[in-house]
Amino acid sequence: MSPVGLPEGYLYPGLASQLDVGPRTMRNRIVQAPLSVSYQDQDGRVTDRTIAHYARRARGGVGMVVTENFAVEESGRQMPRQGLAAGEEYLPGLAKLAASVRAEGALAVLQLVHAGRYAGPWEEYGARRRLAPSATPFELTPGRMVTPDEITLEEMSQVIDSFAGATRLAVRAGFDGVQLHGAQGFLLSEFMSPRMNQRTDAFGGDIAGRTAFVLETVDAVVAAAAGQILVGFHLLSDEGMPGGWGPDDAAWLAGRLSGRGVDFISPVPSTFESLRARLAADPACNPSAYDAGAVSVIRDRARVPIFVNGGLGHPERAEHIVGSGAGDAVMLGRALLTDPDWAVKVLSGKTADITSCDCNPPTCLRTQLTGTICHTWPAADIDRGFVG
Ligand SMILES: Cc1cc2nc3c(=O)[nH]c(=O)nc-3n(C[C@H](O)[C@H](O)[C@H](O)COP(=O)(O)O)c2cc1C
Repeated sequence: MSPVGLPEGYLYPGLASQLDVGPRTMRNRIVQAPLSVSYQDQDGRVTDRTIAHYARRARGGVGMVVTENFAVEESGRQMPRQGLAAGEEYLPGLAKLAASVRAEGALAVLQLVHAGRYAGPWEEYGARRRLAPSATPFELTPGRMVTPDEITLEEMSQVIDSFAGATRLAVRAGFDGVQLHGAQGFLLSEFMSPRMNQRTDAFGGDIAGRTAFVLETVDAVVAAAAGQILVGFHLLSDEGMPGGWGPDDAAWLAGRLSGRGVDFISPVPSTFESLRARLAADPACNPSAYDAGAVSVIRDRARVPIFVNGGLGHPERAEHIVGSGAGDAVMLGRALLTDPDWAVKVLSGKTADITSCDCNPPTCLRTQLTGTICHTWPAADIDRGFVG
């Protein structure tokens, strides 16, 4: 019961209601958004800190935990402590992670990525191949132009096999699902973008060509999931650059994704490039904000649940999204990093107790190289490096 004697979830009936997603049911409509905390070891293995972090978010009452992005192969790894899901040696840690989240009543979903042209380490950019649809120069860090390598057809097949292999690993580890990272400017979204993809073969050109690699990857992942686990897609909704991938393109792709076995779609705007451009133009803006217009056109075409993300840590706003039908669930990143009990507090009517966050992505992004900390956490937890 809530403090005023109302049944749990009464004030937030939309957020409190269950949701069927593919072969699973979420206990409510609040989802931990993928947010890299980088608690893995240098070899990309899950550690006790990784497990404590995600189990804590599940214990805080969310319906689903989507992990931070785990690379499907070494060539697609961006950060030194980024997790890998690339072979037997990763299975024990992944299995413990899935079991710990599920034991707290949330669905456990592993986010999978190939970082493409953003693969690291960035200090050694020219030292090995960095895979991208085209060898188009771009600004890796402010003022530093680099040129990635054009991925070959053989390397593309290898990447697809790696996504499928990581999915089979997730099934064996006991996850409820995987989510493919098709946003932020990583490899899948690089193929989608007319700016980043200038290929003249079957994997470039019009939207059908530019999404062919994405759909082949999805087909391989859906086959590997074999109906046993969910497949989600984190979809770039708007590249936010002139001549780039836009909401109508995303809606077109969303229709095809939902027709090919994808169980949920989470539209998110911006790439590293457009985020940087917007922050440079207006340092006070919140570039991670939810884009209602883009979500609406995508939702019209997709026939699967849409998870909405971006600045939704205010409970009334989150409830409005679900209650009005703008989205089927809300994904919270920074709100749950700041306060792991956000869901349980909202669903029991204790919203005044929520710890809120006044930081911005560049501030928390900086801590990812060594393991994320949030300045709102109590000092004792910061000393231990995490809220566990
Ligand atoms: C520190 C940090 C790490 C992030 N890591 C990921 C990630 O691994 N995968 C991903 O898809 N998005 C990642 N994001 C983006 C978040 O999922 C989310 O889209 C963004 O924070 C906006 O949502 P919010 O306002 O609820 O935080 C990250 C964001 C931050 C701030």
